[in-house]
Amino acid sequence: MIILGIESSCDETAAAVVENGRHVLSSVVASQVDVHHIYGGVVPELASRKHMEAIVPVVDQAILKAGVAIHVLEGIAVTQGPGLVGSLLVGFSFAKAFAFARKLPFIGVNHLEGHLNSVFLDPKPPSFPFVALLASGGHTSIYHVMSHTHYELLGQTRDDAAGEAYDKVAKMLGLGYPGGRVIDQLAQKGDPKKISFPRAFLDKESFDFSFSGIKSAVGRYLKENTPIDDSLRAHVAAGFQAAVIDVLAHKIVHAALIKKCADLAIVGGVAANSGLRKEVVRLAIKEGLAVHLPEVKWCGDNAAMIATAGYHHLIKGEQGHLDDDVYSRVPPSLYP
Ligand code: KG4
Ligand code: ZN
Repeated sequence: MIILGIESSCDETAAAVVENGRHVLSSVVASQVDVHHIYGGVVPELASRKHMEAIVPVVDQAILKAGVAIHVLEGIAVTQGPGLVGSLLVGFSFAKAFAFARKLPFIGVNHLEGHLNSVFLDPKPPSFPFVALLASGGHTSIYHVMSHTHYELLGQTRDDAAGEAYDKVAKMLGLGYPGGRVIDQLAQKGDPKKISFPRAFLDKESFDFSFSGIKSAVGRYLKENTPIDDSLRAHVAAGFQAAVIDVLAHKIVHAALIKKCADLAIVGGVAANSGLRKEVVRLAIKEGLAVHLPEVKWCGDNAAMIATAGYHHLIKGEQGHLDDDVYSRVPPSLYP
């Protein structure tokens, strides 16, 4: 089954053509990063306008690159939420119109379920059940994943998401938006042991997270140590990154052991982090666990993961309706 996937939940307009939820025939991502960079974060109004400009060319390009005729498409999968309502509406309305015009089934996909399914775009996906750490700009959660469409939330952040903490710390360091990749690179030049920032493990058995404390600690440190030179900036980045990784890596490995899963995965934008990838592998090897790391291009927002998740709903006969609407937060009914 060949599916067109569409993603527009935040500041990336993306379309992909994916066969049987595994084989990516094309994946196009138009990033708006340059538009939002100067504002230090995503401006929702600008984001929806940019999606409107990009959606048709991005879908056209995805179909062209896939090298398939339009009549070969058998279904449309589109992000329904969570995300920015104005942004979601562009992709969702386009998908409904496209499905109606081509007489195709369409399915609204939970963006988080899309990230969980991103591991299936790799040649050696995990076996069910597995545990997954989803760390992005809006979410930081641990799931026990039973199937492509069935998963249990084990814990989540009580305040900031990991990616949000990266972005806020990058702003404090004058590194611009988004901050994850820049801090990741800068951290390689610093000493992670030079400055120790707090690690919020919360209670030992909890799979919840908290990143607001570390963010404030970095803010306090910077205030007390102005002016900051390049070398100190690198030490702050390294110390911050080490603290965040420590918590994320220990919790996901602990979740695999508690849930007796041999496989674990990390997904979402922060899963691109080089230090996190290394540390999770290091801890997991000690416990005899297999780690699944999506290729970096599948960590950030993309439409191939949405097509994959959608495929597993469509093959069960599920379908969206033309009067369906987008949602900014995940409705409780979507947590089985
Ligand atoms: O999954 P994603 O593309 O969008 C959301 O669904 O939020 O994640 C974006 C987040 C941003 O906060 C960005 O700073 C972070 O992922 N990120 C990283 C890295 N690359 C992107 N964080 C840490 N290290 C990275 N290498
Ligand atoms: Zn995302």
